[in-house]
Amino acid sequence: MTEFWQTPLAETVRNSKRLAHRRVPPNDIGNWLENYAEAAPTSSNQGTTNIPFQRWFHFKEAFSPKFVADTLSSLPYKVDRCLDPFAGSGTTAVTCRMLGISSDVIEVNPFLADLIEAKLSPVRAAGFCAAYDDLMSTLEIKPADRLPIDGMPPTLSEPGVGGRFVFASDVYATIRAIVRQSDGLAPEHARLLKVLLGAVLVANSNVTINGKGRRYRRGWQARQRSASDLIKSLDESVDRAAADLTLYSGLSRSEHVVHCDDARNALARVKHADVAIFSPPYPNSFDYTDVYNLELWMLGYLRSSPGNRALRHQTLRSHVQMKWQETRPVAVSQVLGETLDALRRARADLWNPHIPEMIGFYFDDLAVVFSELRRILEPGHHAVVAIGDSQYGGIHVDVASILVECLHSLGFRLTERGAIRSMRNSSQHGGGFELSEHCLVFERL
Ligand SMILES: C[S@@+](CC[C@H](N)C(=O)[O-])C[C@H]1O[C@@H](n2cnc3c(N)ncnc32)[C@H](O)[C@@H]1O
Repeated sequence: MTEFWQTPLAETVRNSKRLAHRRVPPNDIGNWLENYAEAAPTSSNQGTTNIPFQRWFHFKEAFSPKFVADTLSSLPYKVDRCLDPFAGSGTTAVTCRMLGISSDVIEVNPFLADLIEAKLSPVRAAGFCAAYDDLMSTLEIKPADRLPIDGMPPTLSEPGVGGRFVFASDVYATIRAIVRQSDGLAPEHARLLKVLLGAVLVANSNVTINGKGRRYRRGWQARQRSASDLIKSLDESVDRAAADLTLYSGLSRSEHVVHCDDARNALARVKHADVAIFSPPYPNSFDYTDVYNLELWMLGYLRSSPGNRALRHQTLRSHVQMKWQETRPVAVSQVLGETLDALRRARADLWNPHIPEMIGFYFDDLAVVFSELRRILEPGHHAVVAIGDSQYGGIHVDVASILVECLHSLGFRLTERGAIRSMRNSSQHGGGFELSEHCLVFERL
């Protein structure tokens, strides 16, 4: 059987045209997905490097717009309003906008929330480019732009620590000056500029970033990025965004709300949705606050280390880099109980002794999210989840089976389940074999 997320692209486009509300020109979704690289896994953003809006910021953990479009087309009812409680780079909201469907999305990371808002806001490209040119032609680096931000990791700017630093001093000061001067722009221009600047930070630093943190580029000392490299890449980033904004300037407004908050709180403010489509953090110890730390500090979203800690506390308890507050267990599942017992027995061999508690908290957090979804979705409507398994010390955390059990008692029935792709398990997590990433479709009973 072919699952809906394996639909060929041409069919996705045909189905989506039928889905699109009349106020959206019917060829838009086809044009938008024209350069989608179909061979890439639909649960990843690998195929989207040439897709307008999605190409503004490389968000490695995104699913594809095709996944959202296929999900929407597969539903047996009309969707007017869609919900994504873990919005990341905004794939769900942007795809909905292309289809004329309204959305509520929640994202705890303020940089990512601004990225989503920027993608959804119909800014006039000519006005933005004029404001950008004006800012850059009057850009002045003041002594304060060279100072470290209170509480920021000292390695962010030269001289750094032990001779290692993320940004050369001129690059650091130029970024800070652009951010400072952007405060004088119209709010939608300032937001867009910060987002586009965020998109070129890592490329103009001395590091690369992955789920395990920052790593210095090989030979970085000899190949430092300069302020003119930064400005050149920002110019290109602005040109790309301006082209996308111009091409899609005719899209009529559908209604979108971006809540920058912890989904465990913000869902209480969402009254109703026809469907929820999302991919929460996986319980794999990937710390989103850490991975997007450069953007958060350099663009002024974080201004103190307590602010950094507060943001980390608002994220889902999917990693062990934080000491989590103990809460009353709410997730009920036999598989979860057995997994937690096995992890506790293996505690001495795990790379972090708090892993068993973190796994319990993770499912408690998802149970809280789903108890809100039960109120928000009508009976017969769906929560469609892309989620991955995990493994610690050779013990498999079978996320799909655990969720199915936990959610049954919360009034959700699994109607479809399939592996979307396999992920390589890191040796740190106890093995080299493959872990599955699933699409789980839950019906609200
Ligand atoms: C797998 S990513 C979602 C990717 C998204 N589907 C996309 O296509 O871009 C998970 C997101 O959940 C966010 N997140 C983590 N904890 C959260 C919380 N408590 N409330 C809301 N968002 C949270 C992370 O910052 C991250 O952006």
